[in-house]
Amino acid sequence: MSEEKRSIHGTWSSRWTFILAATGSAVGLGNIWKFPYMAGDNGGGAFVLVYLACICIIGLPIMLGEIMIGRRGRSSPANSMKSLAAEANTTSAWTLLGATGALAGLLILSFYSVAAGWAMSYIFNGFQNITAESSSSSFNNLLSSPLSLIFWHSLFIAITVFIVARGILKGLEKWINTLMPMLFLIILLLCIYAMQTGAFFEGLRYLFMPDFSKINPQVMLEALGQAFFTLSLGMGAIMAYGAYMPANQNIGKTAVSVAALDTGVALLAGIAIFPIVFANGLAPSEGPGLVFVTLPIAFSAMPFGILFGTLFFVLLSIAALSSSISLIEPGVAWLIESLKIKRITATILLGFAAWFIGLFSALSFNLLSEFTILGKNFFDATDFLTNQIMLPLGGIFIAIFVGWVMKKEHVLDELGFQENFIFKAWYFSVRFVAPTLVGLVFLYFFL
Ligand code: TRP
Repeated sequence: MSEEKRSIHGTWSSRWTFILAATGSAVGLGNIWKFPYMAGDNGGGAFVLVYLACICIIGLPIMLGEIMIGRRGRSSPANSMKSLAAEANTTSAWTLLGATGALAGLLILSFYSVAAGWAMSYIFNGFQNITAESSSSSFNNLLSSPLSLIFWHSLFIAITVFIVARGILKGLEKWINTLMPMLFLIILLLCIYAMQTGAFFEGLRYLFMPDFSKINPQVMLEALGQAFFTLSLGMGAIMAYGAYMPANQNIGKTAVSVAALDTGVALLAGIAIFPIVFANGLAPSEGPGLVFVTLPIAFSAMPFGILFGTLFFVLLSIAALSSSISLIEPGVAWLIESLKIKRITATILLGFAAWFIGLFSALSFNLLSEFTILGKNFFDATDFLTNQIMLPLGGIFIAIFVGWVMKKEHVLDELGFQENFIFKAWYFSVRFVAPTLVGLVFLYFFL
């Protein structure tokens, strides 16, 4: 193992920090905002089933691969790929994969920040006397106000830039350590609330009873994209974090814990939200507004709802921040290494780019709503391009890199594995299963 080699950006302060930071990256709007609405748009159980299969069969093996590349390369994703390609005597064109990953990160951040802005603005919602109608109309009011959307989007990017410019290795741990369990507890509380709405079982049935007739190429691609998105895979975020991971940490166990925590949070969010949807006569296919319409209804109906509601959206905003910093870190680390510029300069540069592109997403709900690409507004089009195309494609190449480009002895050495059954199953997956399945979903969708 690469004992002495450390990243020029530093190392996590303890073994737990990597797990915390990677979980902080994975758990975010993807779990609480995106997963429920995508499940609702795609018919519930069928989507959830394909999503869970994608997490286990494709996501987990690729996550191991990403951590491993990062830790062995000990630099930004682009430069880690470059040095590992050199170690395997192949072309440095693999740097490109890291570079497009950094670009995907910026594009994701551009619209992620707009949605994170919704969460921040909901901190001040008040959570009193909210009905299904009033909740829908206040969300629509927010969307129709360009100034509010741009304000919150700008604030979110500014906070992200502030944290990343100071360096993510310090301080992150403490925050994630205490705030994530609190977020988890409020989601549990919402689940308990959901139990007494009278529609709890209807919600569970919707989420977990697959209607196989609803599985089609589109559902499969969306579930695949969501699996990558929620685990922060396919663009180098986990790779960048892996570069700061101590050499004596077990990569396999770490990856399993992160994936399990992330999936648990998404499922609990679904369990909390769908009963509220049905109990209030809302449609599961409400779209991106689903959580923002349903949860305020629940908070306004429960005791101490103002307290819990405010706290929930504070914590959700922080969870979004611990994700957004991982979207920009691969690009920042790369700029620092290759242009030899200061961290603060690199961060401001990329933050500005994400902010600027994000303006179009913010305006796509109001002033620019007529402007569509392939029938999607700018927000949805960026989401589609990144999550359904760039991340899975990045995932195929990462799997190929680990399975076919890197030498097997280097892989074994870095993972600290014996050539046992688990290794063989994983290696088979990155060599054959993951690339083929992702390829098939693409073929199936585009042909
Ligand atoms: N996983 C995060 C979420 O669920 C979003 C995210 C952070 C992400 N870093 C990423 C998505 C890298 C894709 C790639 O909210």
